[in-house]
Amino acid sequence: MEKLGIAITGSGSAVPKNTLTNEAMTQLVETSDEWIATRTGIRQRRLALPSESLSMLATTAASQAIASAGIKATDLDLILLATSTPDDLFGTACQIQAQLGATKAVAFDLTAACSGFVFGLVTASQYIKTGVYQNVLLIGADILSRWVDWEDRRTCVLFGDGAGAVVLQGNQSDRLLGFSLKSDGTQNHYLNLAYAPSAQELLSDVNITKGHYQPITMNGKEVYRFAVQKVPEIIDKALFQANLTVDQIDWLILHQANQRIIDSVAQRLNIPENKVISNLANYGNTSAASIPLALDEAVRQGKIKQNDIIATSGFGAGLTWGAAIFQWGR
Ligand code: ACO
Repeated sequence: MEKLGIAITGSGSAVPKNTLTNEAMTQLVETSDEWIATRTGIRQRRLALPSESLSMLATTAASQAIASAGIKATDLDLILLATSTPDDLFGTACQIQAQLGATKAVAFDLTAACSGFVFGLVTASQYIKTGVYQNVLLIGADILSRWVDWEDRRTCVLFGDGAGAVVLQGNQSDRLLGFSLKSDGTQNHYLNLAYAPSAQELLSDVNITKGHYQPITMNGKEVYRFAVQKVPEIIDKALFQANLTVDQIDWLILHQANQRIIDSVAQRLNIPENKVISNLANYGNTSAASIPLALDEAVRQGKIKQNDIIATSGFGAGLTWGAAIFQWGR
């Protein structure tokens, strides 16, 4: 019988060893542990060493996910890497494919900033639901410390580095119960890691552009406003699609950007604190990695159990936002 449903059968995660506390941050910019903790909930973040690459973190997370799904790397049909900070602008997924020895898998990168994991989950599921692929590895990984302006206190205190991964497999019953994805490019200017072009004359009549990427810029207030309004709406939409009510959710796992955003969304949806998963105190905002990192920790801590219903939502640059409702395990 064809397996046109999907199940999420394994998870893994990896973070760099190097920790930067809020206290240490005060040596870089004018800030305090008190300001950062009360405004964001973040206490520390992990930062990749120069010797640690995105593909290394992603491969470690991926190996754990493959092992916990009980399959081999050679069983994988597709590897999707959600990232905005690849080791190589041509893509990093193929390096991960090589490091894993996933010889059969096609591999490519997907960019949707902090929504990357949720966008990737839905993208991966389409290949399974159409019967094209059976075993898909989805990784969310980012090293934002490479792209933060370490002199800008409005942004540098927020971000950290990490990777998380899940394995999705064809299944007779469909465990991805509902989803909704959105983009609004008219608000693109609120959050950017933009290319700064400068004109260069190649020949007297041939001009081209040479440039570099600028550090992250963000209008924090607008992004905050956007998140607390749009995230509850899109979770409601995904729940409607799943034909579920909010009280049927066992766990809420939001993109780990700010504890105040997480609290506000949970409150608006009427989800009690004991169902809300949060680990940003330890890792900061790890962008595409934050949801699978929080998911994997909760699975390994034994919080999330077989058949639990999880509501997840990613939101961020683009602007993009999305929600998915899924049931854990096969
Ligand atoms: N330490 C001390 N003071 C600071 C710091 C800091 N690190 N950063 C800013 N301040 C100061 C400001 O300069 C300002 O001072 P002023 O009043 O004298 O001008 C004051 O604190 C208030 O600044 P605000 O920007 O108004 O602070 P706010 O309460 O809005 O909090 C924050 C800022 C935490 C960034 C919040 O707006 C937020 O979380 N926004 C959402 C960010 C987000 O979720 N991003 C997710 C997407 S990320 C992605 O997609 C890659």
